[in-house]
Amino acid sequence: MLDIKVTRTTSPKAKPEGPLGFGRIFTDHMFIMDYTKGKGWHDPRIVPYEDLKLSPAAMALHYGQAMFEGLKAYKGDDGKSYLFRPDMNGKRTNTTNKRLCIPELPVEDFVQAVKAVVKEDEDWIPTEPGTSLYVRPFIIATEAYLGVEVSETFMFIIILSPSGAYYEEGLAPVGIWIEDDYVRAVRGGMGFAKTGGNYAASLAAQVKAHDDGYSQVLWLDGVERKYIEEVGAMNIFFKIDGKVVTPMLSGSILPGITRDSVLTLCREWGIPAEERRISVDELIEAQKSGKLEEVFGTGTAAVISPVGKLRYKDEVMTIGGGEIGHLSQKIYDTVTGIQLGRLEDKYGWRVEVK
Ligand code: PLP
Ligand code: COI
Repeated sequence: MLDIKVTRTTSPKAKPEGPLGFGRIFTDHMFIMDYTKGKGWHDPRIVPYEDLKLSPAAMALHYGQAMFEGLKAYKGDDGKSYLFRPDMNGKRTNTTNKRLCIPELPVEDFVQAVKAVVKEDEDWIPTEPGTSLYVRPFIIATEAYLGVEVSETFMFIIILSPSGAYYEEGLAPVGIWIEDDYVRAVRGGMGFAKTGGNYAASLAAQVKAHDDGYSQVLWLDGVERKYIEEVGAMNIFFKIDGKVVTPMLSGSILPGITRDSVLTLCREWGIPAEERRISVDELIEAQKSGKLEEVFGTGTAAVISPVGKLRYKDEVMTIGGGEIGHLSQKIYDTVTGIQLGRLEDKYGWRVEVK
């Protein structure tokens, strides 16, 4: 159990009015905890949201020893505040930390810290349909040292951002660019970890995709450039000939919590759901023979995002005629229904913040 010290702001900010967008507005407070080698994690505290004071030599700024997570807090119809599977974010934090030589954090402490800061700023949880309070826990290496080594000091911080849809399109299908030149990650690298470097590596392709009118990039494997991996901010699912298929966890893609939830739901509903290698050629073939029924992405920020168009080299595949597919809609309704407390929570995924 953390003994969290709370210092409240004396000048609370006005709550936002109008469309929230994603990730640009921040609440009144944040959580901070320090780590010092030999002492461990210490001084957990909730303080007013403000700029950090950091050495310009802080190692995270130079060598990228940093990680982040993403989850959401929802206001249920019953007026209670909920999180969705926060223990999974805590476990994934430690998977990432191991890869990046960042000290691990007890999962209970992670969840306690998230709950405490969300509770503090509970009145910032938006209630408009499609909105939530995005929770961004992250850890940065803070030691002032220019040698490439493991930092001896870190900060664990949680900030909160009332947000709407991640994509401007909302639930309307997005266009995705299958990248055949740049790669994001390879097995043995950091693809399975949630760390900024993976996202920095994705920007050049994303700029190319945006310039061509596509929302996001779909990555192929880094070795053969043949097998589908994931999208910039979400995992990817295909419905092919009545079956649901998603790339298996190979070490180079993020093990998404939404992905795991969707696989669980499909299996509960008796829909065959395969985790396996899927090549871009198989996809093109399925589309040509009319078997590619639906494509959608899954992620905390992206929720369930239907994909209406996929581009690969000179091929442009259109899926579903600009409409969200039947299964994608059912999954969206079920996942958000559980998150908001409107549907039964058979698996104990919903966690009340109290
Ligand atoms: N893949 C990437 C690269 C992501 O950034 C995300 C977002 O967190 C996901 C997949 C989806 O993961 P989750 O469902 O846990 O949010
Ligand atoms: C999330 O869905 O929480 C993510 O971390 C994606 C992010 C890159 C916006």
